[in-house]
Amino acid sequence: MNKSMETQGRDQWSSKIGFILAAAGSAVGLGNLWKFPYTAGMNGGGAFVLIYLALIIIVGFTLMAAEIIIGRHTQLNAIGAYRKIRKGWGWVGGLGVLAGFVILSYYSVVGGWVINYIVKAATGAFSTSDINVLGGMFESLTSSTWEPIIYHGLFMAITLGIVIGGISGGIEKFSKILMPSLFIMVILIVIRSVTLPGAAEGIKFFLKPDFSAINVSTILAALGQVFFSLSLGMGCMITYGSYLSKDENIPQSATLIPLLDTGVALLAGLAILPAVFALGFDPAGGPGLVFITLPAVFAKMPMGGLFAILFFLLVLFAAITSSISLLEVVVSFVVDEWNWSRAKATTIISAAIFALGIPASLSLGVWDTIIFRDLVFFDALGFLTDQILLPLGGLMLCIFIGWVWGVDNAVKEATNGGKVKFTIAPIWGFVIKYLAPIAIGYIFITGLIG
Ligand code: TRP
Repeated sequence: MNKSMETQGRDQWSSKIGFILAAAGSAVGLGNLWKFPYTAGMNGGGAFVLIYLALIIIVGFTLMAAEIIIGRHTQLNAIGAYRKIRKGWGWVGGLGVLAGFVILSYYSVVGGWVINYIVKAATGAFSTSDINVLGGMFESLTSSTWEPIIYHGLFMAITLGIVIGGISGGIEKFSKILMPSLFIMVILIVIRSVTLPGAAEGIKFFLKPDFSAINVSTILAALGQVFFSLSLGMGCMITYGSYLSKDENIPQSATLIPLLDTGVALLAGLAILPAVFALGFDPAGGPGLVFITLPAVFAKMPMGGLFAILFFLLVLFAAITSSISLLEVVVSFVVDEWNWSRAKATTIISAAIFALGIPASLSLGVWDTIIFRDLVFFDALGFLTDQILLPLGGLMLCIFIGWVWGVDNAVKEATNGGKVKFTIAPIWGFVIKYLAPIAIGYIFITGLIG
């Protein structure tokens, strides 16, 4: 494979829809299905949703376009891309590669829980709607020593198996199957959820903004969620953009991907919150909403057993199309810069990420030592990525385009040298130069102090 790939040049997406589905697949993940509904539930429902939407439009679209532009322009991995445009900037991409490595180590642990929950759902373990029993079940899984590590290994093996196939033959091929299935499953679950008696309360909570619930912490929570959900701030979209052909339309792709991601986040909220209300549970249930509250909801719902399997399968598909993008960021760097074969790079990196996930998983059980502030290792990895590496990466991305490479050069790439329409380019330039770096710098600093 290597010889012929070298002579034929770099692998590319075989179609525009393939790229869109892979990039949307990267964006749609545990962030949408697990984090978004409970974060909205804890931050005033509709008020949070409204701010989230505003930030997606201002910051999300802008940075999505920015990363794809850098990737397509350089046709290189995150580190190589920054360095090719301006010497001395490779380290920004380096922070991204590091972030990808670290995020995947704990993301895969959660992905493993999801596989375990599919098994539980299929074997009828959710026959009770007693929150205490279900809470105990979740706690007992996550704090066990061996079981979650085995499932984490299984999740990493699936991720490896796809990434090793390359861009068009691996990531794109699977995204084209997994993403449409995901859309169908989420719509089926929404229909089930909103037709439950009493669902109207939940729909109202989710869609009707209560402006008194908006405050600084709502805004900060929403901005952090925008980054994580759109896979921004670590060169993921630089890497995916680097496999994009020179005649694809970047402004259009950068609009479609956030739209799809936001669509699924809203549908996930509509799938989960009305059911939670209809069956009398607490929408502010926090991170346990999907793993503890939802199984209780399924137990009380007609045909709940079937919907439980469907739901966790949906979460697994979403998690896999995201985990492959995280792995690809690291693999692409090693293949480009160290000239490793894709097979060798994928295998060795996956093994290393699996290894880092082991202490992360154990830190929720036997190794529950506080290592930083009040955080165990698992949460400390999350803090390092969400509060430090991603916002720093996003901030440097804005500074790099706005002040180092130049908005004009970026716009030239975005329009394929003037051939493609980018009507809002002046607004885009203003946001990337001033508005976005100030907003992101603000959360970065408050996140560190807070
Ligand atoms: N966006 C994914 C989710 O919502 C997670 C993810 C994939 C990610 N690649 C990323 C987050 C890059 C930050 C950066 O679950």
